Amino acid sequence: MILRCATTNPGKLREFHRAAEHFGFADVDIQALDGMKSIESCVEDGATFEENAVKKALHYSAWTADPIFADDSGLEVDVLGGAPGVFSARYSSDGSDEANNRLLVANLQGHDDRTARFVCVIALAQQGKLLGTFRGAVEGRIIDEPRGPGGFGYDPLFFYPPFGCTFGEVDAARKMNVSHRGQALSAMLSYAASTGNSR
Ligand code: IMP
Repeated sequence: MILRCATTNPGKLREFHRAAEHFGFADVDIQALDGMKSIESCVEDGATFEENAVKKALHYSAWTADPIFADDSGLEVDVLGGAPGVFSARYSSDGSDEANNRLLVANLQGHDDRTARFVCVIALAQQGKLLGTFRGAVEGRIIDEPRGPGGFGYDPLFFYPPFGCTFGEVDAARKMNVSHRGQALSAMLSYAASTGNSR
């Protein structure tokens, strides 16, 4: 069973491989899209995670006969009206994880309401047809000081009450069990496996 993944990021691909195995879909062979770097890239200008994921999946589905999925994800902070949202990767002008985290903490000074969620949407498409979208979300709150060496992005600021620590303080498998990406991916893989939408 082959599913293509619309990413040029080897780290992301590795994470998807690990997750597929973790959720019991070891027979699903997740592969990068051949030659993706030479294909004109897709502009992620959607107002929602859904729009961006769908746009990417449809765009790249023209380049393979296999079903292909694309994801979009980010952090929504309630008191900031859902920001950084679809702009999570480029929240600060510098765009590094450290600068994004610093800006987030600065923007939350004086706010006691720290509720936030990570959201991931995966869109699955085949040859110009959208097969489905799959959304995962995980609720937590944003703390003032980064904690933990693990994860990436906003993980060290994202306190997850059921674990009693941040996502930066847990290993990848523990995070994947509950994460927005884990939820969206396992829903997409269940759908693909049940409909035979892979080959
Ligand atoms: P993208 O889906 O690769 O565009 O990621 C969007 C951005 O959202 C990332 O660069 C991170 O800043 C943030 N983000 C998404 N998922 C996570 C996560 O699991 N942990 C921490 N940050 C995340």
